[in-house]
Amino acid sequence: MTDPEAALGQLVQQALADEFSAEYAAADPLIRPSGFADFQSNVAMSLSKRLGRSPRDVAGPVADRLNAAPAVARAEVSGPGFINITLADEWIAAQSTEQLADPRLGVPLAATSQKVVVDYSGPNVAKELHAGHLRATSVGDAIARVLEHLGHDVIRAAHLGDWGTQFGMLIEHALEIGEQATYDQLASGQMTAFYQAARARFDSDPVFADRSRKRVVQLQAGEPDTMRLWQLLVDDSMEYLRKIYARLNITLTDADMAPESFYNSMLADVCDELERRGLAVMSDGALCAFPPGFAGRDGNPVPLMLRKSDGGYGYDSTDAAAIRYRLTELGVTRIIYVVGSEQSQHLQMIFELARQAGWLVPPATAEHAVIGLMTGPGGQRLRTRSGEQVKLADLMDEAVDRAANVIADRYSDPVQRSQIAEAVGIGALKYGDLSVARDSGYVLDFDRLLALTGNTGPYLQYAAARIRSIFARAGLDPAGATGPIAAGTSAERALALRLLGLGRAVHDVAAGAEPHKLAGFLFDAASAFTTFYEQCPVLTAEGETRQSRLALCALSLRVLDTGLRLLGIPVPDRM
Ligand code: ARG
Repeated sequence: MTDPEAALGQLVQQALADEFSAEYAAADPLIRPSGFADFQSNVAMSLSKRLGRSPRDVAGPVADRLNAAPAVARAEVSGPGFINITLADEWIAAQSTEQLADPRLGVPLAATSQKVVVDYSGPNVAKELHAGHLRATSVGDAIARVLEHLGHDVIRAAHLGDWGTQFGMLIEHALEIGEQATYDQLASGQMTAFYQAARARFDSDPVFADRSRKRVVQLQAGEPDTMRLWQLLVDDSMEYLRKIYARLNITLTDADMAPESFYNSMLADVCDELERRGLAVMSDGALCAFPPGFAGRDGNPVPLMLRKSDGGYGYDSTDAAAIRYRLTELGVTRIIYVVGSEQSQHLQMIFELARQAGWLVPPATAEHAVIGLMTGPGGQRLRTRSGEQVKLADLMDEAVDRAANVIADRYSDPVQRSQIAEAVGIGALKYGDLSVARDSGYVLDFDRLLALTGNTGPYLQYAAARIRSIFARAGLDPAGATGPIAAGTSAERALALRLLGLGRAVHDVAAGAEPHKLAGFLFDAASAFTTFYEQCPVLTAEGETRQSRLALCALSLRVLDTGLRLLGIPVPDRM
């Protein structure tokens, strides 16, 4: 067991059981980081009432027993009954040596492997990804990578908007300008212009709008000419998405697209089932569900629109079908929707409907991993000068251009410079997103994201590159480093202890779908490495000390590499 918090938790539980009664072996040991020792346990306060003793009278005998454990150097009662615990150097050294030899670096597989859907990125056909998609894409991808690393069976699902009313308008516009012209415009990257022109026609010409609505019906009925034009739009968008995901180091492939159209054949049956169960009723000609607990401003219940009065289906219908399919056909036990906060009510209503329908049954869970808004300086929505949404591709270009400026004077070779700028720019952009709690608002500030110090992508990339260069200078391969690791100086001890927290950080990400917990851990680890490297000579050290320090460097590198890979941050070899 490499995780210090877990190891100490077990020791505290054992001490409670031995001192008081076996039932306390299951008590939460309440281990927390401490400013006065490595950790503290607050268990005495929580159990004092149950035991009928003052907290200090609980803490005292527990501390005595901890002091007898080889893993513990010192356990002391402080204040009202905190137990401050300092680990033994030998224990840290032994765990650290073990971590280096462990291919999983002390990250255990999940106790039970779950089948999980991660619904993320949320792209739409005929629309370029904009700045707002960045977080739902990078956060979702990190969650998927982490769950997979823990041995879960992950189904990535990009709920691609390729269906619905706007496609009538897009196809009518394509017919109007001609198929060849449509093809040429899309092929030359004018997707957004095409969309805007169609929208303008729709908004200004009622006859066109009427034709568009009829076209939707033909689309949903699978009329061949309509389908051909629709496919043209889908293919173009897929090509665009493949490129942008590759550049963004996102693991979504064609097979991970779960387009809205995929559920089309299920929609009628979903409506039937919900009607049969009495969960859907006709309201003003439309089939609606009113899951309890959702009222609008006027106090009236808010509907999920399952079938519109014209017979058409929309976003609500598709999400109802998708959740049924995932739970009853795919048999998943966890669905994580990585989606913007503005869709919170929609998703909660879908979850409630799924519970009512008996599709979402414990232990299966559905959760909304809320994504907060990314804004420009001053908290304003990100807009271009002409007031449009900022394209993700433009944001990426800007990040890479700025990264090139930051690193410009270090590289004379232009090819190398541009490769590294790409990794640093994209890494900085993604890391900025991943390092803050995903549900908080977030101000995009390139200077901060690209800083070489602080909790940034470039700082972590640089720490990894610096370790590689230590091994390069020594003519050694970091993969060949072996222990034993000694927790000699306080900086070595602190670094080794910090690195042991990798497993906990990764499991924390999985539990709450919160990648920033891993980012925070990596930053702490890189900071501990920086202090170590300032204080402890590595290559000029001798004998066992040199071997131990090299091993600690190798372990730091593997922890950083692994953590950055799980976050989807590219790691350049040099920087
Ligand atoms: N395409 C949607 C949008 O742009 C996001 C999809 C989110 N996932 C879902 N299952 N509803 O808003």
